[in-house]
Amino acid sequence: MRTIDSLDVQGRRVLVRADLNVPLDGDTITDDGRIRASVPTISELAGRGARVIVCAHLGRPKGKVAPEFSLAPVAARLGELLGRPVKFATDVVGDSARATAEGLADGEVALLENLRFEPGEESKDDAVRGEFAGRLAGLAELYVGDGFGAVHRKHASVYDVPGLLPHAAGGLIVAEVEVLKKLTEQPARPYAVVLGGAKVSDKLGVIANLLGKVDRLIVGGGMAYTFLKAQGHEVGRSLLQEDQLDQVRGFIAEADKRGVELVLPVDVLAATEFAEDAPHEAVAATAIPADREGLDIGPKTRELFAAKLADAETVFWNGPMGVFEFDAFSGGTRAVAQALIDSGAFSVVGGGDSAAAVRKLGLPEDGFSHISTGGGASLEYLEGKTLPGLAALED
Ligand code: 3PG
Repeated sequence: MRTIDSLDVQGRRVLVRADLNVPLDGDTITDDGRIRASVPTISELAGRGARVIVCAHLGRPKGKVAPEFSLAPVAARLGELLGRPVKFATDVVGDSARATAEGLADGEVALLENLRFEPGEESKDDAVRGEFAGRLAGLAELYVGDGFGAVHRKHASVYDVPGLLPHAAGGLIVAEVEVLKKLTEQPARPYAVVLGGAKVSDKLGVIANLLGKVDRLIVGGGMAYTFLKAQGHEVGRSLLQEDQLDQVRGFIAEADKRGVELVLPVDVLAATEFAEDAPHEAVAATAIPADREGLDIGPKTRELFAAKLADAETVFWNGPMGVFEFDAFSGGTRAVAQALIDSGAFSVVGGGDSAAAVRKLGLPEDGFSHISTGGGASLEYLEGKTLPGLAALED
């Protein structure tokens, strides 16, 4: 992959595909991690005299203009973090985008409106996507792919535009790929992976692939209840994916056959309802009452998981251990994060909710070797899939 060092950007319009998909509460950005991670590449390009046109998506507006998904608040925050004003185009490839791009002086930065307001961005039809890609590419002379969190999407701005312009990978993509390579090519052992989050169905590919690679697979969060049920335990009203039970039984057998240590919760915080202040108590994972739902791992499980991470040399963690957004059920996620820090292992937090949890819980970001900006993207990389946005930057 060529890096931005190979591009002569002085005085040229450079389209940068970033991942600025941040959580918003109204107009307020509740976690600006992805914006901060995008700053170094944009800053360097601007510093080298490029006319930087940043493009990105926010949420899933599905090809329609939806004001609640406007990138305007992100433009303001990006400007603050860059320490230079960011011009905001109120459309993606229309009059405003063209005028903004043409009006940029050397070293200035602009952000286009949400790419996903345009149906061409995500279209499955190559011709439709290609037509939109052509209009986007027409705004610039060079392309830099730096939106690691979106490289698993075969979208116009990620996959098609690099085919139309001289291109290079930005520093964020280079850094992310370097870390994920360490996890896939000869990781230091013991190698432990911690998976959580609500749905086991989101993690099927990665579990199947990791069973051939890891020494320990630790499962918590909502997805653990499907594992417990597959082992024959009742899980009350906890999250359960009945349709995944056979698949999970297959994983349990495969782990056994390959000598992978599968570590499941031994106790959970069982609550009367899904609510911040729900009455709850720790119960054995094998004895969850029929009218209760597990919202976090219990204290014994926190200790068990920490012990299983203590001697690890490499750890990848994706997905919270419980409903960390509710204080009463954030203890499991906090304990796992702390265990990663304490282990001294090469530790990678795999994007999305786990990265947001680290910041929300006030844990020191520099306690981890790497916090990825890509949730789905890092999982698909570990699955061994070809990621369209990386493939497009290869040639
Ligand atoms: C993410 O949030 O993981 C990326 O920004 C990709 O978003 P998407 O899942 O809506 O494609």
